[in-house]
Parts: sequence; C-alpha cells; structure tokens
Amino acid sequence: MVENMYSATGFSHPNIALIKYWGNRDAKLRIPSNGSISMNLDGLYTRTQVWFDPQLDHDKLFLEGHQVAGTAQKRVSALLDRVRNMAGFALYARIQSHNNFPTGTGIASSASAFAALTVAACCAAGLELSQRDLSRLARTGSGSACRSIPGGFVEWQAGDDDKSSYAFTIAPTSHWELVDCIAVVSQDPKHTSSEDGHVLAESSPLQTTRISDTPGRLEKCRQAIKKRDFDALAEVVELDSNLMHAVIMTSNPPLLYWQPATLAVIQTVKEIRTQGTAVCYTIDAGPNVHVICPKEDTDYISAQLNQIPGVQKVLTTHPGGPARCIIDEDESITSKSSI
Ligand code: DP6
Repeated sequence: MVENMYSATGFSHPNIALIKYWGNRDAKLRIPSNGSISMNLDGLYTRTQVWFDPQLDHDKLFLEGHQVAGTAQKRVSALLDRVRNMAGFALYARIQSHNNFPTGTGIASSASAFAALTVAACCAAGLELSQRDLSRLARTGSGSACRSIPGGFVEWQAGDDDKSSYAFTIAPTSHWELVDCIAVVSQDPKHTSSEDGHVLAESSPLQTTRISDTPGRLEKCRQAIKKRDFDALAEVVELDSNLMHAVIMTSNPPLLYWQPATLAVIQTVKEIRTQGTAVCYTIDAGPNVHVICPKEDTDYISAQLNQIPGVQKVLTTHPGGPARCIIDEDESITSKSSI
C-alpha cells in the first residue's frame, strides 16, 4: 500500500443551510434528526493538505500554520482512522489546513474543514470512493460536511443508518444565480459549539414539533429551488431558521447565538423586502447573518448591510461546486474531481 500513497490537497466550500440540521438521532455517527438542504458557497474555501508520513508517531494537525491538539485533533484523527481502516494501513498524517474566511463563527467552517479533509485523506490514501461514500465519510467528521461534498444546491437525506445518511446535488450551481451576502458581525469563536448544541436540542420542548414539521419544509424548499421561486424560498428559509433558533433559545440550558447587530440585520432585511426588493435572511449557529438575494441585487443589498452599525464586513458568495482534490505526485500535479 505504502508505495501507492500520495500527499494530496483537498479543496471545499462551506455551505449555508436553507433547511437546518439541528439534533442527532445517533450522535456518534451523526445520523441527524431531520433532513436538510443547503447551498455551497463559492468565494469561501478550505484548503487542506494530508500527507501520510512513516516518520510520524501520531497525527499532527496545523490550522493556519499553528499546531492544534485537543478536541479538534481528536475529531480529525477519528476521521483519519476510518480512512486508514478502509485503506488497510496504519500510517499517521501531517494535516495542514487553511480557511480564507473566519473560523467557528457560524460560517460553517467545520463543513468545509471536514469535506476538504475527507477528499484529501482519501486521495492521499489512494482510495477511490463514490461521491455518496465520500459524503457519508465526511458526515462522521461533521454532519454539515456531508453537504459540502456534492456541488450546487444539496440535500442531505437523513436516513436511518450510516449507509442511508448522505447528501446529493438537487440542482447544479448554474441552476439559479442566487447570492449569499454574509453580514459578519463577529469573528470571535462561538461560546457553544454546534456539536454541543446538537446534544441540547432534545431538551427544548419545541424540538419535537420542529422535527415533525420538517418534511413539509423540505418539500417547499425543494420546489422553490426547482421553480426558482424566490418568494417561496424566502418564506420557508426564514421560517426554518427561526424554528432552529427557537429550539436553541429554549433548550436546557438555553443558548443564544445572536448579538444586537444580528437583530439589526434581520430588521433591515425585513425593511428592504417591504420596500419591494427580494431578499431573505438565515442564521446558522453563530451571530453572523446570511442574506440571500438574486444576483442582480447584490451591490444594493451589500451596500445596505455595510451601513448597519455592528456589521464589520460583508462577504459575497455564489453557488459553489463540489469538493475536489489535487494529488501532489512528484513534481507533477494531477487535478481530480471528487465525482
Ligand atoms: C446550525 O455540522 O457544525 O449550521 O456535526 O457537530 O459538526 P457537527 O455540527 P455541524 O452543525 C451545523 C448546524 C447548523 C445548521 C446546518 O448547517 O444545517
């Protein structure tokens, strides 16, 4: 096996959940309580290099050039253990990862992190997995990462076991020219990780209702995407985001990811819509607000968001493609898509 291995670099985009994943039926395997739908975000990326090295006596993780131990390293090693098992070798790896956007602030950094790690590690180990199996593997590292493996608009079928829980493209990037203007109100790491938040979801009296009502919202979202019906999309996306944050705010102990500027952005989005411009908001587990609009309104929306006190900057992103890897083989570099 060893002579067939390479150092490989994985690239992937984060994604914004239009219908959210919040709560697990099986926390270890990350089998979610409900299905979800997302859009990959071009313009933002994670780049991760994995190099299996016979000299190492443990995995070494470097984030933005700094060596990291603890929980992050354990999560990475757990995913690499699965890859090592599949590939049938026991070498440790050096992992170097870089994001071109703020980490741990509700811009789905764990999604792109584990998607990039998955494709890089599989490429480096010489494993040729289907997109479905890459998505299943990425899911075990971070649930939302399974949605960053395929491209464009993506649905994660909740499934009921490791085999049936994976994500797939429901519409390609070219299908709809939507833009996600991310109003960044904080770049500080969030106080409670999504991983811990998922555990608390069950303690909210609202979670059961949210889950039982999800199939209807998934269908509305699928149809809105299929028909490129922005008003229908806006309605279901805001409802779903509000439902998830209602669960978050009513769990035991209760959490609150919002900051005053988060609410100011929500209010501005509502005002802009009242004045006749198509726009909606959605918020993942953090204070930053994803403001979605048709491409032609990007400059106007972005300018409006930039004027809100507390908004530090606005990141403009478009529907993004799938995760992919580049095999670093001697001096030559071979580009290889994950599909
Ligand atoms: C609010 O995928 O970050 O962004 O599986 O523990 O890594 P882990 O959780 P994660 O949860 C994402 C939660 C969310 C909603 C979503 O992306 O669907």
